[in-house]
This record gives sequence, C-alpha cells and structure tokens, in this order.
Amino acid sequence: MTNPQLVEQTREGSVLVLTINNPPVNAFSPGVPEGLKAGLEAAAADDTIEAVILIGGGRTFVAGADIKTFNLPRDQAPDLRGTVEKLDAFPKPTVAALHGTALGGGLELALACTYRVAVGGARLGLPEVKLGVLPGAGGTQRLPRVVGAPKGLEMMLSGSPIGAAEAKAIGLVDELVEGDLLAGALSFARRVAAARPLPRISEREVVGASPELFAQAREAINKTHRGQLSPSLIIDLAELAATRPFQEGWQAEAVKFMEARESPQSRGLRHIFFAERESARVPGLAKDTPATTIRRVGVIGAGTMGGGIAMNFLNVGIPVTIVETGQEALDRGLGLLRRNYESSAKKGRISAEDVDTRLGLLTPSLDLADLKDADLIIEAVFESMAVKKDIFTRLDAVAGPDAILATNTSTLDVNEIAAVTSRPQQVIGLHFFSPANVMKLVEIVRADKTSDSVLATSMAVAKQIGKVGVVVGVCDGFVGNRMVHRYGEEARQLVEEGAAPGDVDAAMNALGLPMGPFQMTDMAGLDIGHAIRVHRAQQRGEPEPDGWLDRVVKTGRKGQKTGGGIYDYDENRRPRPNADVQALIDAYRAEKGVTPRELTQDEITRRLTATLVNEGARILDEGIAARAGDIDVIYIYGYGFPAYRGGPMHYASEQGLQGVVDDLKRYGKAPAPLLERLAGEGKTFADWEKEPRS
Ligand code: CAA
Repeated sequence: MTNPQLVEQTREGSVLVLTINNPPVNAFSPGVPEGLKAGLEAAAADDTIEAVILIGGGRTFVAGADIKTFNLPRDQAPDLRGTVEKLDAFPKPTVAALHGTALGGGLELALACTYRVAVGGARLGLPEVKLGVLPGAGGTQRLPRVVGAPKGLEMMLSGSPIGAAEAKAIGLVDELVEGDLLAGALSFARRVAAARPLPRISEREVVGASPELFAQAREAINKTHRGQLSPSLIIDLAELAATRPFQEGWQAEAVKFMEARESPQSRGLRHIFFAERESARVPGLAKDTPATTIRRVGVIGAGTMGGGIAMNFLNVGIPVTIVETGQEALDRGLGLLRRNYESSAKKGRISAEDVDTRLGLLTPSLDLADLKDADLIIEAVFESMAVKKDIFTRLDAVAGPDAILATNTSTLDVNEIAAVTSRPQQVIGLHFFSPANVMKLVEIVRADKTSDSVLATSMAVAKQIGKVGVVVGVCDGFVGNRMVHRYGEEARQLVEEGAAPGDVDAAMNALGLPMGPFQMTDMAGLDIGHAIRVHRAQQRGEPEPDGWLDRVVKTGRKGQKTGGGIYDYDENRRPRPNADVQALIDAYRAEKGVTPRELTQDEITRRLTATLVNEGARILDEGIAARAGDIDVIYIYGYGFPAYRGGPMHYASEQGLQGVVDDLKRYGKAPAPLLERLAGEGKTFADWEKEPRS
C-alpha cells in the first residue's frame, strides 16, 4: 500500500530536495510519510548535506491530510504527527517551499520546518474546521505562536486561506520568491545553512492572547458555528497554546483531533466534501465531452430571479442582454440590480469601479431578437406553461443556431417546453435558487433530448459562475422542490395535530436549519405555495385546497412581503406568533374534530426528516437524482440543511434507515420501496450506490 516513490530525493550541491509527488493535490497519503522519513534519514546521515528543502511536485504543495484516510483506525492512517515531530527535531535547517495551496496538514508540515518560502500566488490556511476536525499535527499550537492568538484563531475558525503576501507580512512566510520557486528556495537554503541556533516555532511565546479574546471567540462561534463541535475544541487548544507549555498543547491536540474526527459532524462534512466533487461527474457523460465557451448570455425576465441570474454572469465578466416585455418592468428590474450592486459596494464587498464595470456589461432590451448573438439564453419569467411555450417558440426563431436555450422553471416539464422548439437537444433546465446571485445551487435539468455537450457546457458554466451544479431529471419539482413539497405537507399536518408553527420551526432550527418550514413559507410568500397547491389540485381534478394555511392566505396575510403571514415580524424581522392565525388554526382543528395533542421536538424532527428522506428514496429509485449525495448537496446549498449533518440522506443513513421506516409507519406513511428494502438489508444509501445497476 505504501509507496516511498511518492517522495523524490534530488541532490543540489549541499542541499537535499525532497519533492512530494502525489497528484492531484499532494495530499498526505500513505507513502508520503515513509518517503519523507527516508529523505530526512538520508540527509541526517550525509555530512555533506547542510539543508533540506520540502517542495510539492505539480500544481501545489501538500493540500492537507488525505481525507480518504480519515475512516482508517488511527494506527493505520499516514503518520503526519510523527513526520512533524521528525521535522521539528531535525538537526539541520529545513525549508518548506510553497506554491499552490499549503493547507491543513500541508501547512502543519511547513510550520514544523525551520523556514518557509513561497511564491506570490501561494495560499496558506488551516481549513480543518470545514471538515469538522481541527489541525491535528501541531497547527493549533504552532500557528498562534507564529501569527499571534487573534490571527491564529481567525484563520483556524474561518478555515479561509490567506495569500502569500499577507503570510509574509505576518511572519508565516520568511521570504517571497520571485520566479522559479526551487531556485529561490535553494538560494535561501544556502544562505541560512550555517545559521545556528535553529529557530523552532515550538519554543516561541504566543502574543496577543487574553482571557477576553478567548471568551469573545466562544461567544462568536455561538452565532457562526452554532451547534458545532470542532470550533470550540479549536478555541480550547489555542488557549492551551497561549497558557501552557508546547508539549501539553501538542498532546491535548492529538486527543481532541480524534474526538472531532470520530464525530458524526465530521463524517457529515467529509461526506459533503466528496459528494460535492462527485456531483460534478455526470453518469453517462464522457469525461472528455466538449463544453462550448459562453461569451454572451441572454436573460428573459428582469424580475428578482432574472436580475439575480444576470448578476452571476456580470460578476465574472460575461456580458448579458436582459429582455423584458415593457419599459416599466425593465426599469424596475435594472433599478433593483443596481441597488443590489450598490449595497454590496457599501458593505465593501466590491468596489465602486466593480459596480460600473458590471453594469457596463449589461444591455437592457425590449426585443427578443436582441438575443440573436447570445450563446446561452435563460428564461426566467412567470411560472406558466403557456407563457413559457410561447417564449420558447419565439426564441427558437431568433436565437443563433448553436445557442443553448435554458428555462429556470422550478416545476414545469422541460420536455414539454423543449418540444415546441426545432432543437430540443439544445434545451435544458437551469433552476437557480432565490436569491439567485447568492444561493450556490443550480439544479441542471437534463431533459430527454438534451445533448451531452449542452449538459457539459451547463456544468462548466455553473462552475464558472461559482455555483454547484447538480444534474437532475425531469419531474414535478425536480429534486429540491419535490422533496420540500412533501416536507411542507407534513409540517402543516403537524400543526393540524397540535403543534404550533413556532414549535415546528424551532425543531428544524435546533437541527441546524436557519429557517424552518413556516419561516421559509413566510419569506417565499404564502400566496406562491397556495397557487401551486391550487394548480396541482386542478390538474388532478381535486377540489380546491382548503387547509389551515390556505385559509391564512385568504385573510390577506401573505408573508413578510405583506408585513406578516404565519408570523408577525418585529423591526428586526424576528417572527412572533400571531393570535388571529392561532385562532384560525384552533377553529380549523375544531371543525375537523381534531383534539390537539402535544408533540415533542423529537417527533417533529423525526417526521419532517423522514418525510424528506422518503421522497428522496423515491427520487433515487426513479433515477431523477443519480446519487443520494447529489440530494444532500442540493439540500445543503439550496435549502440550508446543515452541512455538518451531511444532508438529509446521509443524516438518515447515520441514524439508521430502519428507524426512518419505523417512524414513517408509526405516523401512517408508506415507506418508499427502496427505503424499506435498504432498511431491511441493514444498508445505507452509500451501500445502494455501490450496488450494480442494470
Ligand atoms: N484529501 C484527499 N483528496 C483530496 C484532498 C485531500 N485533502 N484535497 C483534494 N482532494 C481530491 C478531491 O477529492 C478531488 O478528487 P477527484 O478529482 O477525484 O474529485 C481532487 O483532489 C481535486 O480536488 P478539487 O476538485 O477540490 O480541486 P481544486 O483545484 O478545485 O481545489 C483544493 C484544490 C483547494 C486543495 C481543494 O481540493 C481543497 O480545499 N481540499 C481540501 C483541503 C483540506 O481541507 N485540507 C485539510 C485536510 S484535513 C487535515 O489536514 C487534518 C490535519 O491537520 C491532520
């Protein structure tokens, strides 16, 4: 399993260069510690070697511990801590030469070297918190000793890397190299070869620490990382670094690292790390399927959605033509877009020049024919099949022959829309989530005739604009909204049985969702959900829906946009129960002969998550989503499901699928056949993914 060739030894005069070659990111995989150990031993044994350089081959220095080995028992995982100890104790100078990303265990290796040099483009960070772990190879003890406690905490709690120039300014890097990294590192190593004593970070004091700093950090993570384990462990360890001898913190770090690594939260975050990357691999799509370059985009509809979609492209320098039917609507849309940019500039997120540059790339128009040069046209108009069919018919006549025609529909049949064009192979769904310039998810809806190259281009475009694109099949609501529809039904049912809307939301907030189902409804608008329910009932020939929530809409309370819906809102937009809504619910229960009962938070959470998972299992069985991980990615980036729970499908697998089936049956719901089978066989959704498909 181990492969010492992962580390190449090259002699450059009196310097031994150890090059780590473990593409693509030089993760600290099995074989790397053995190779480094062999290199250090060779350098120690040879009196003519005066210094050692550690450098990464290919595009980067070591980007971290190998996350795939986190499931291995501790004694079988690559020995990063042992390597760090060897480097720290090494009697000759060691120089880490950094390019690409020196992250996590990679930065910890560099911190255990005597010196660090870097090219200007290098990025350095300890992103472990994003994986629910903590720097486990001395990072919590060495980083604060180099950059001080405040900066060390900031870097470890945000997980965000810093650039080489900043790293130099705060002493994390000793020298910036211009030109060839190895040449610069060699010249640095020769200069410091004879300098003694060797400076060791482990012998330094932590500056800038105070009890208040740690107290403030603990308070802050209650907001930024509510309910998460690893941030508080990181603060504990940084405090140890500041107050106790190095060895004590170093030993404590090993224990806390394992505690975090073994936690369900870390398993959830690791699952999402890989699921997100896996979602980029579309089954049946050859890896080398060509993606065309999108040079100009057209957006139809300048409403909130269309404007938000347009911003994504303007932000990355792609010109957009935005089309509306009337001057007033166009002006309103452009005004909104401008205000969005100006508010970002006010908050310092972008500069005033950025605002001008981006708006300068926007062409407003009232004529569909102005989209003739667009490579990608996204329709974002009112959710009506008749309207969309009309637009696609006209679009087909004016769009360039190779243009991709996309619809932002959230529920309608993309095949039916594609069928009105002469080029169904170029039609696709690109379902953005509101606010479209913020939410990271795009459901990429593959219709029956969508060509591979249109799909590949859509995936590439999503990535280009910083989104996570997940391919889904055609059905009512695709993946996200189809599941959320069932979830909403169950939430209303819970209230009918006796829960207050606030209890239902509180349960989901406790699970880690920033918004529960009713907070979400109030934000989206009660009338929108009501219109969808009416439409569905009409399609199925059922009577008009008349649940308690439909009755709330009819009182004129449509949500936050009308000042209140299920809740009232104070000046800080905090929800407060409304007595009229509660009276309406009480009357509804009485009319239905329901004696309200008390529902525990546990029951509410279980029923809502089981409902999501049950529909998710149906979606998998029908092939609407390719992997359970795709559904998890959709729920995290589109609906705020906490990443540290790994998404609903992973969360259910962690709880045990049999428990989900039992819950569904207990509450009178039919389990999806796939869910019931997996539960019966003691399997998880991850096991299902390994099963052969016909
Ligand atoms: N371990 C294992 N595999 C990794 C990895 C890691 N640390 N980092 C990246 N990879 C894999 C990815 O899964 C991906 O594999 P596939 O091509 O098979 O999907 C491949 O490397 C390329 O990764 P990306 O697609 O993400 O490439 P990118 O260029 O967009 O980003 C990156 C590169 C910035 C390094 C990004 O991959 C990243 O952020 N990786 C994680 C870095 C990290 O968290 N390091 C800390 C690890 S924890 C640690 O080190 C603990 C400790 O202290 C002991």
